[in-house]
Amino acid sequence: MTECDPKAMKKAAAEKAVDEYVKDGMTVGLGTGSTAYFAIMRVAELVKQGYRLKCVATSQQTEDIAVENGIEVVDINDVDYIDVTIDGADEVDPKLNLIKGLGGALLREKIVAAATQMEVIVVDESKIVESLGVKTSLPVEVCRFGHVRTAYGLKLQGCEPVLRMKGGEPFVSDGGNYIYDCKFPQIDKPFFLQSAIDTIPGVVECGLFLNMAAAAVVAHKDGTVTEMK
Ligand code: 5RP
Repeated sequence: MTECDPKAMKKAAAEKAVDEYVKDGMTVGLGTGSTAYFAIMRVAELVKQGYRLKCVATSQQTEDIAVENGIEVVDINDVDYIDVTIDGADEVDPKLNLIKGLGGALLREKIVAAATQMEVIVVDESKIVESLGVKTSLPVEVCRFGHVRTAYGLKLQGCEPVLRMKGGEPFVSDGGNYIYDCKFPQIDKPFFLQSAIDTIPGVVECGLFLNMAAAAVVAHKDGTVTEMK
């Protein structure tokens, strides 16, 4: 692995996580994004080797990739729980609290994470932060109806909410909602902020994933892969 090979780092973290945590017979949650992609491909290899896995997808994009690669994807409503989910993140703090959703799948990702016994996050070292919000904006998924009013409520929490766009139009999530990317100077009290955001009418879900991850598998520029627990 060379020093500046972000793709190799993502692949290394994802493959290590799958090899360590996915066992034959499990129900597995498949994350969304460029790091989770490598986990899906590794799961596909295990299926080809004969592992019997049922998988739940965190987005339509992930479901399409999984099915194309021979993975059995089941409806989350048809499983009692998910043994392990391997997903990416945008920021990870020392307590394994996360910001997720820059890929636009935060709603399904959070529903899947909440149904999961062991949520494993795969990232490269650039995603590790001392305090959430220092690098990225916090994605918040909102109902399209009244979204400007909802964004005003978000602004009152001390951020600059920007409506996410794609191809000149507002980005629409798998759930049919809009996303506001909210830049906070820094998120000092994530639990407090999550409660405050959740009470704003029109908010569907926010990208703070607090006390949800059990482990983070982190790839480093020097080629090593470590684990935070
Ligand atoms: C999608 C997510 C992704 O997991 C997150 O954006 C990280 O993606 P990537 O691995 O491509 O950097 O939360 O909603």
